[in-house]
Amino acid sequence: MTDPTLDAARPYMIALADELKTSGALRSPRWARAFTDVPRHLFVPEWYEQETDQRGFAVWRHRRIDNATDDLAAAYRDITLVTALDPATAKQVDDHAWTGVATSSSTLPRLMAGMLETLAPDDEHLVLEIGTGTGYNAALLSARLGDSRVYSVDVDPGLVETARTRLAAAGYTPHLAVGDGREGYPGSATSFDRIIATCSVTHLPAAWIERTRPGGAILTDLALGIEGGLVHVTVDNGRRATGGFTATAGRFMAARADARAYSTPDRSPRAPEADTRPTVVTAADIRANYPFRLVLSFFLPDARLVYNTDDTGTALQLQCPDGSWARVPLSGDHTDHVTHGGSPDLWHQVEGAWHWWDRHDRPAQEQFGYVRDPDGRAAAWYRPDGHRWELTAGGRPQA
Ligand SMILES: C[S@@+](CC[C@H](N)C(=O)[O-])C[C@H]1O[C@@H](n2cnc3c(N)ncnc32)[C@H](O)[C@@H]1O
Repeated sequence: MTDPTLDAARPYMIALADELKTSGALRSPRWARAFTDVPRHLFVPEWYEQETDQRGFAVWRHRRIDNATDDLAAAYRDITLVTALDPATAKQVDDHAWTGVATSSSTLPRLMAGMLETLAPDDEHLVLEIGTGTGYNAALLSARLGDSRVYSVDVDPGLVETARTRLAAAGYTPHLAVGDGREGYPGSATSFDRIIATCSVTHLPAAWIERTRPGGAILTDLALGIEGGLVHVTVDNGRRATGGFTATAGRFMAARADARAYSTPDRSPRAPEADTRPTVVTAADIRANYPFRLVLSFFLPDARLVYNTDDTGTALQLQCPDGSWARVPLSGDHTDHVTHGGSPDLWHQVEGAWHWWDRHDRPAQEQFGYVRDPDGRAAAWYRPDGHRWELTAGGRPQA
């Protein structure tokens, strides 16, 4: 590598690796070496940082490394760097600022390090990454395992081409392909020892199970409607994937079906408003307690949680496919009241979930197991007593 910025970046590479070791995210010398060896700034020479403009709107401010020392240092902060905006929604608001939906990023290094440590591939393992993005993680994997053992796929052809160029410039040539990674690595019958996804999926795709060697493992962000989290499972000889949520918590952008844009979810019908009543579960409780939101996803696997703003203010709103809904205000005089329409049972289930979680001493996410059966049905369970929640409505298998 002859890039002139490399020497200047070296102290920042070492400092980032040290920071990740101190935080406990990096636990092994091998991954520490990969973080010390791979120059993040070659993969993220420009990015977008979120800020609030004079009108109070959130915008993406474009930043580029101009070989200035502070720019180089900026690329080695332990933060997520957004690198692509969806062209269908991106609008330029001034010379260097945009609005729009982020479609790719270089993941928070602390999260990436924690995931790679959890993935724990052996020297001989073949690894498939879903979500090439900038190529930085593919470079870390290549530094650790060697190029020929690393496969990475992204749905966006432009991102893959840029990543290929930057990987080569940094001295890495892993296998790269364009496609919907939920279908595996396109055009290949290769089986993998490890699959790591850096975009979220709503369920473990059948193709990943088929392409994981018995005894191999999958690590992915599982989006369960209300909440989600990192799930680490081992695939057995019978194609059952068993494991659970990891102590490393993190969420990723959702897998999309094509490179252009995210599809807009269908608007579900909405039942007429029925009642307002006092509740013990407030919006603040739901917002402050990540593991509770995960438990709520187990109790209500078909529900979605959204922010809803109307002339009464902003509220957290649960929505179900049958049109039932319930909302609790974020502020004002009635934060201890719930307003609902459709089934009155919906908020009773929220209160039931809250009592369950509280009664069990508010367990963290790693106390919950996850299984995907060979027929596609999935369930979560509470590790200490085996209490189980079916996550596939009506036993519906998932593709
Ligand atoms: C958080 S970024 C990945 C970060 C990347 N690992 C890195 O080190 O820069 C998520 C990536 O997932 C990709 N993605 C979204 N849907 C996908 C799909 N169905 N298949 C493959 N990649 C997908 C996005 O294009 C985006 O680049």
